[in-house]
Amino acid sequence: MQANAAFELKENTGSESWTGGLARSFKKAHRALKDQQTNFYTITRPEFRFPELELGDDFEVRVPITELSGYSVDDFISQLPPRYAKSAVRWADYVQSLARIFCREFSASNCVVRFSEISDNQCSLFHADNVHVRLIQTLHGLGTEYLTESNLMRQGLGLGKNELIVREATKVCRANEGEIFFMRGDRWFRRAGLVHRSPPIEHLGLRRVYLCLDLKNL
Ligand SMILES: [Fe+2]
Repeated sequence: MQANAAFELKENTGSESWTGGLARSFKKAHRALKDQQTNFYTITRPEFRFPELELGDDFEVRVPITELSGYSVDDFISQLPPRYAKSAVRWADYVQSLARIFCREFSASNCVVRFSEISDNQCSLFHADNVHVRLIQTLHGLGTEYLTESNLMRQGLGLGKNELIVREATKVCRANEGEIFFMRGDRWFRRAGLVHRSPPIEHLGLRRVYLCLDLKNL
């Protein structure tokens, strides 16, 4: 079963389709990141809603999506935990919408999607990703932590210690739950990707659910 390219989640909208409104915001994000004015960009929309989450054990769904042909919804759904049975199709539609807008507005033919729930720290060392652009939407829990250039010592990257990278720990920024957060990686222009890390949650007993969409080729 292939998802329909023209679907819209009308319950999320006011007078226009949310995908149409979002496309304009993605276009602005692309322009800002491409012109190298910034290495991150945030879209916050109060009306922007995703399907219901079903919190539980950790999981990871990973699928490639192309702008033209979409992806296998069956493949996506088969990787979801059983607790998502009722909302699986809505999640598949939501993920495909985001991925298609992302590819189209960033002129990419495909992206890789991860949909995950985690309870560990993942990578707690600050780093930049080896991608062109990564889109992260934290759906539940603490968002990605990142450093502005003024709080960053780039010469400390890769040395294995956050103390050599972060000037002031109290000035570490964090993306908010629900917002769409774009990070430029090191592959685009071969420099100055956004330095970031997963928020440490393990010692706090917290969980995170997030969507991560990577553009590895532009
Ligand atoms: Fe990363």
